[in-house]
Amino acid sequence: MQAYSLIAPAKINLYLEIIGDRPDGFHELVMILQSLELADRLDIQQGDNQNIQLYCDHPQVPTDETNLAYRAARLMCDTFPEVYANYGGVKIRIQKNIPVAAGLAGGSGNAAAVLVGIDLIWQLGLTRPELEDLAAKLGSDIPFCISGGTAIATGRGEKLDQLPPLDNIWVVLAKYKNLSISTPWAYKAYRQQYGDSYSNQAGIKSRTAKVHSNPLVKAVTHKDSQEIGKLIHNDLEKVVLPLYPQVAELKSAFAEGDVLGTMMSGSGPTVFALCESQEQAIALERQVRTKIGDPQLEFWVTKLSSNGIQIEP
Ligand code: C5P
Repeated sequence: MQAYSLIAPAKINLYLEIIGDRPDGFHELVMILQSLELADRLDIQQGDNQNIQLYCDHPQVPTDETNLAYRAARLMCDTFPEVYANYGGVKIRIQKNIPVAAGLAGGSGNAAAVLVGIDLIWQLGLTRPELEDLAAKLGSDIPFCISGGTAIATGRGEKLDQLPPLDNIWVVLAKYKNLSISTPWAYKAYRQQYGDSYSNQAGIKSRTAKVHSNPLVKAVTHKDSQEIGKLIHNDLEKVVLPLYPQVAELKSAFAEGDVLGTMMSGSGPTVFALCESQEQAIALERQVRTKIGDPQLEFWVTKLSSNGIQIEP
């Protein structure tokens, strides 16, 4: 029986700019997305019946159709009904290392791994664009999670343009265990406050076309970590930080340390700091842990990664 172990990395945004409304109710975005070494592991194999069986070692992760990984398996069954009938269901085990509901695309990465895993066990031979099209049906950042690394993402976040790999920067992540922020709420609040400044269709086209001259893209291309740290940007901070002072204080605490830059990840509540070395990252974690002194605050030290979904040998 075919079985695969897959590694599904976490993701941060180095850049997130909201440039307009879309007819589908989503937002037009300009982003730079980045994979991390921090990753979940998924074991995927043929099931012993026609069901999708999902197991996870983390009590907060649902194992029904509310889990994106389950929905990814369902999408594969619906898209390839004859292959599904022939092979039967799938059994998926998720080993969670990425913090849950953190703004680090943990669920999206799991869904990407399920698409790649089922493609392998059913021997479908799907191309990267075919996998990305399926991924975009499940969520805006799932196509990125397949290839990972460093990429410009435009449109809803699903149109990707790969950048040269960036893996020489260390990252400290921090998140309050008891805090979660709704992504739809963050985008809705942004629209309410800043919708007046959104570009029209022509403006969206020209801003999207100009993305390659974005100074952060140049800094990434030149692997200039000092410049990268200075230029990271996230529009959603404008609505989240004023309403969640804990997140704002966490960012300020990181900014006092020896960092290249610090920012909220996605719609939060995780805050990350970029550091030049592992030593600096570990020292920063200690400094912020001591300064804030809240047992609810959890930390992870990791590194940028050039990998998307990886098959474990
Ligand atoms: O696509 P995904 O399910 O990850 O998006 C989560 C939510 O984030 C959406 O329901 C929407 O409210 C918001 N969003 C958006 N525009 C995007 C991506 C996400 O408004 N381009």
